[in-house]
Amino acid sequence: MNSRNGADYSRRLPLYRRVAGVLEAQIRQGTFRFGERIPSIRASRSLHRVSRTTVLQAYFWLESRGYIESRPQSGFYVRIPFSQLVPEPEFRPVTSIPRVVGLKDTISEILRRVDGPPMAPLGTAVPSHRLLPNKKLNQFIRAVIREVPHHSSRCEPAAGSESLRRQVARRSLAFGCNFSVRDIVITCGAMEALNLSLRAVTTPGGLVAIESPICYTILQAIESLGLRALEVPTHPRTGIDLDLLERAIKKYKIQACLIMTNCHNPLGFIMPDNRKRELVEVTAKHNVPIIEDDVFGELSYQFPRPRTAKAYDRKGLVLLCSSYSKFLGAGFRVGWVHAGRYARDVEQLKSLSTLATPNLPQLTIAKFLETTAYDRYLRHLSAVFAQQVQRFSLAIQNYFPEETRVSRPEGGFLLWVQLPAQANSTKLYRRAASENISILPGTIFSPSRRFDRHIRINCGNPWSEALDHSLRTLGKICKEIC
Ligand SMILES: Cc1ncc(COP(=O)(O)O)c(C=O)c1O
Repeated sequence: MNSRNGADYSRRLPLYRRVAGVLEAQIRQGTFRFGERIPSIRASRSLHRVSRTTVLQAYFWLESRGYIESRPQSGFYVRIPFSQLVPEPEFRPVTSIPRVVGLKDTISEILRRVDGPPMAPLGTAVPSHRLLPNKKLNQFIRAVIREVPHHSSRCEPAAGSESLRRQVARRSLAFGCNFSVRDIVITCGAMEALNLSLRAVTTPGGLVAIESPICYTILQAIESLGLRALEVPTHPRTGIDLDLLERAIKKYKIQACLIMTNCHNPLGFIMPDNRKRELVEVTAKHNVPIIEDDVFGELSYQFPRPRTAKAYDRKGLVLLCSSYSKFLGAGFRVGWVHAGRYARDVEQLKSLSTLATPNLPQLTIAKFLETTAYDRYLRHLSAVFAQQVQRFSLAIQNYFPEETRVSRPEGGFLLWVQLPAQANSTKLYRRAASENISILPGTIFSPSRRFDRHIRINCGNPWSEALDHSLRTLGKICKEIC
């Protein structure tokens, strides 16, 4: 291997990086074009005279940087880089005022409509059951029933099953943390984790700083607790605007910030580590707690998965919430929270609200987490989602009006689409529903309803002709109403 073609083949680099460097250079130079298959692992092994593990490491490295993608049972292909696609949604650093959310009726009405079974599922953020490990989970359920036949006869303590909390604590190293089992509270999904965290750090009528745009689920939690929200503009690549956040903290009495730092819903970005650190420093300086929602963090396209803001928490002011809903199944209703200095408050609130979380789903998930198959499964699922997101993005580029802009997710299975200036997402959502296509209008992603020309698209279903047809129809409607 030499360095004539511009790749970094320095001998100081590990062998797999040198192999990756050769392929990277070939992709850059067009030796392998977008969409083409790169040599199989076996072919690369003999070509570079290295082990299978080295080739795999090289391919995973290239995959994590977005050069290639793996396709199940088919091999590795050169990925179409987002830079060749449509531009990203615009960022507008505008200031806001505190508001009551006032969206609960609109959201309920929309969800009632888009969750109907005959709709093309481009609306709610639920992956297809065909991609989830139902068979494996059912095996674990049977094993739990055999091992703990009395699982339904009593409640676990409010904090949850010790075996699941132990697994969360072990996994926390991947988030850049090292949790103690004692400080983790298992909840009924992330929704309960967010609700309990909000209740632990706010008082009724209090003010919460939120990202703009942000998932309506978070807005529902804030509204249901009688809190007010202050929107802080969020950049589609780097996350919440930290200058505007600090200015807001100085101006208003903000009781908490609710933030998604990884695989944001709806924007899909991963906040860079230095900005996560800065976020924690800025809020800690003013003693403002952060409630960090990491429900999509495990679905990062990078490996290893990204750290959380919690990794930089030195004062116990970050309450990290997550769940298994987005990659094992929302039906389990299992989530968790590490609430830092508020851990005991959250545990007490949990006990007062739902007493405990059902045993069987907790024990089942703990069994899966114990296995090495869990990590492999997450990597596989994330790669599938990365591919689906690319496919949907291409279709939008082909079918939607010219000025359309699309997010470039770094994890998860959602796309945020900015339509031309004349578009009205509520009108589009209604017209789409009449064609049996479910999408979510941007208006429910902000209390000020400022995303009226945006829609969110769920890419959690395997690509099919039916989905292609739905996106084509959606593009046609967009062109008609713009
Ligand atoms: C950003 C975000 N947070 C929290 C939740 C709630 O997750 P769970 O189903 O685990 O309660 C969702 C679910 O849609 C979500 O998208």
